[in-house]
Amino acid sequence: MQDKKSPQEAAKSLLVFENDMLLGIPAIDDQHKEFYLIYNTLIGNIAKRGDTPVDLGPVIHDIYNYYINHFQLEELVMRHVGYPFLREHKKAHRDIFARLDELSIRLAERSITLDEVLLELRTTASSHFREIDRGIGIHYRIWLRSHPEGAPMGHSGG
Ligand SMILES: [Fe+2]
Ligand SMILES: [Fe+2]
Repeated sequence: MQDKKSPQEAAKSLLVFENDMLLGIPAIDDQHKEFYLIYNTLIGNIAKRGDTPVDLGPVIHDIYNYYINHFQLEELVMRHVGYPFLREHKKAHRDIFARLDELSIRLAERSITLDEVLLELRTTASSHFREIDRGIGIHYRIWLRSHPEGAPMGHSGG
């Protein structure tokens, strides 16, 4: 069957953004798609290099920066719409940074394989976007009923 991939195959397959992941908040949805682009570009680069090892250090660094920017926006939106689970959500964001730190250390120690890092990166992002961020979209739709003008941060920099 198609979904019976080995961890190695799963790690190196492209991430597909599915519409059920859309929150209906364009600025956040665009950034979620951007993560998929970053990850898929990485997979493409790895494939091109064949047997030449890839240095994942800089990639983790880029993903770290991506998350700084992304979580800033999300937390701004959550505050703006009075999201009731802001504290818990911020904790989930901090946990992602902690995991990235751990991955960097394990990479430096060479105690983790490329596939393990890839699997972790993709699983963390997908499950956070799908399960944790989902609540922001639900709350946002309710909030919109009394704020038809929408949230100003839908425009970048706003
Ligand atoms: Fe997110
Ligand atoms: Fe989030």
